Amino acid sequence: MSSHNVDRVSLVFCIFFAQAYALLPPPCDSEIYCTGELLRRVQTAKLFNDDKHFVDMKLLASPDVVLEAFHNLTFGVQNQTITSSILKDFLTRFFDAPGKEFETWTPADWHEQPQFLSKIKDPKLYNWAVDLHRLWKSLGRKITMDVKDHPELYSQIYTPNPVIVPGGRFRELYYWDSYWIINGLLLSEMTDTAQGMINNFLYLVDRYGFVPNGGRIYYERRSQPPFLTVMVRDYFRATKDINFLKKAVPALEREYNFWMQNRSIIVEVDGNKHILNHYNVQIGQPRPESYTDDLDLAEHMSEVEKERLFVELKAGAESGWDFSSRWFGGNKDSNNATLKDIYTSSFVPTDLNALMCLNEHTLAQFHHELGNDAAAQHYSKAYNNRLKAVEAVLWNSEKGVWFDYSLQTNSSNFAFYPSNLAPLWAHCFNHSDMQLRAFEYLKDSGALNYPHGVPTSLHNSGEQWDMPNAWSPLQQMLIQAP
Ligand SMILES: *[C@@H]1O[C@H](CO)[C@@H](O)[C@H](O)[C@H]1NC(C)=O
Ligand SMILES: *[C@@H]1O[C@H](CO)[C@@H](O)[C@H](O)[C@H]1NC(C)=O
Ligand SMILES: *[C@@H]1O[C@H](CO)[C@@H](O)[C@H](O)[C@H]1NC(C)=O
Ligand SMILES: *[C@@H]1O[C@H](CO)[C@@H](O)[C@H](O)[C@H]1NC(C)=O
Ligand SMILES: *[C@@H]1O[C@H](CO)[C@@H](O)[C@H](O)[C@H]1NC(C)=O
Ligand SMILES: *[C@@H]1O[C@H](CO)[C@@H](O)[C@H](O)[C@H]1NC(C)=O
Repeated sequence: MSSHNVDRVSLVFCIFFAQAYALLPPPCDSEIYCTGELLRRVQTAKLFNDDKHFVDMKLLASPDVVLEAFHNLTFGVQNQTITSSILKDFLTRFFDAPGKEFETWTPADWHEQPQFLSKIKDPKLYNWAVDLHRLWKSLGRKITMDVKDHPELYSQIYTPNPVIVPGGRFRELYYWDSYWIINGLLLSEMTDTAQGMINNFLYLVDRYGFVPNGGRIYYERRSQPPFLTVMVRDYFRATKDINFLKKAVPALEREYNFWMQNRSIIVEVDGNKHILNHYNVQIGQPRPESYTDDLDLAEHMSEVEKERLFVELKAGAESGWDFSSRWFGGNKDSNNATLKDIYTSSFVPTDLNALMCLNEHTLAQFHHELGNDAAAQHYSKAYNNRLKAVEAVLWNSEKGVWFDYSLQTNSSNFAFYPSNLAPLWAHCFNHSDMQLRAFEYLKDSGALNYPHGVPTSLHNSGEQWDMPNAWSPLQQMLIQAP
């Protein structure tokens, strides 16, 4: 082949890939925190143990100045590596260490002896509960006013009220984690802190139209399992605060509409069409906070395959199960599929649809409580449609349980996950024998034979949402199932 031909071939490929690439927006528009050459250079230089470190650093000058200085630094060295020490000097001049966006904050509604403690008789459990209750004081964070006044200097998203954070590398608020945090706060009689956290989520829905994965701009184009309506339900049960309910409902409906407009899919089974939900994040490029993990995984892939991978990894993060063999698809055998074979958006998940079902039922109840009969009817109808769809697509009458449905194979994924029982927890079933059969399934699965909790799956893939890990949200959903 002549060099002339090579050029033409590569030109055609370039145009094709450039178009495929250009279709998808980056995780956020920041050319420092979400996309661009500075992010790429710093992350691939691996200056820190965790890629999250850099994208949590505060800017010491405006983004324009930092980007111009970086342009000056790289001018004329486009395709040479910039040494780590030059990059480090650059970061020292223009960035401050992570954590500058928070003040320590002790919740004012914390008190020594909430009622639940006095009900615990076992001394070992009692002491453990006391320790847990004390944790609220060390995990409270308040965002500084500077984040509100100068958002361009931070990746932190401003929210008006203090929060309880998960801790460790997770130094900001997270969406579905907060459901269990809020339940704990209610048990600890800390309703003000709980209300503040819920108000933050309502504020985020107001700003984004949905709740982002967490409190950073690099999470702002993906969500997490939609627990906000259930947070409000639990808060309302604890406080009977009808004015708060009235105030919250419009944001809950807006979030619901986001999931129905942007995360739904039509599934055809036996000639009948059903509307169900899936995780789906049409956003390109590596996740900024795990940049080199994503880039390394994509090594040797074509540009089109890379983009597919980046999309599906983000959908996996949106599911909360990042990552799990549960989302492995494609045409590989489940035993030799790896994270490269992630196809999250091709699955119709049992737990997401159970949660949407619970949201529909709960929104109907809220409207009923508030005297909005027409709106209550609307959500009751949605709930009834969901019951039908969950039964038709996810319920397996032979095995007596619900399974994720694969849109690649048009069939169920028969593997065991605690999420197979999520419709029980969410009361999203219409026949009492389903409850009995699902419990039989759980016993027969062998998953109850592990002394330290029900494992996330029975397949040891090396991913953290798989065997042998047992995650507390999944235990709680199983325990609370009727
Ligand atoms: C970048 O270089 C130009 C030209 O040398 C200079 O005027 C400008 O101040 C530099 N900008 C920064 C932020 O260092
Ligand atoms: C380096 O970049 C220049 C233009 O920026 C380009 O012409 C040249 O081919 C590049 N060299 C390599 C080795 O990629
Ligand atoms: C949802 O999808 C619509 C297009 O169907 C789009 O205009 C809108 O921006 C999306 N909403 C969000 C919050 O991503
Ligand atoms: C995957 O594993 C199956 C056996 O479970 C084997 O037959 C197949 O060849 C393997 N495929 C690859 C690509 O390794
Ligand atoms: C639920 O079951 C009842 C009685 O079996 C039936 O009347 C109703 O139509 C069912 N609803 C759905 C959504 O299947
Ligand atoms: C799955 O079903 C869809 C539509 O019902 C169809 O277009 C597709 O070809 C089917 N795929 C397989 C693998 O059967």
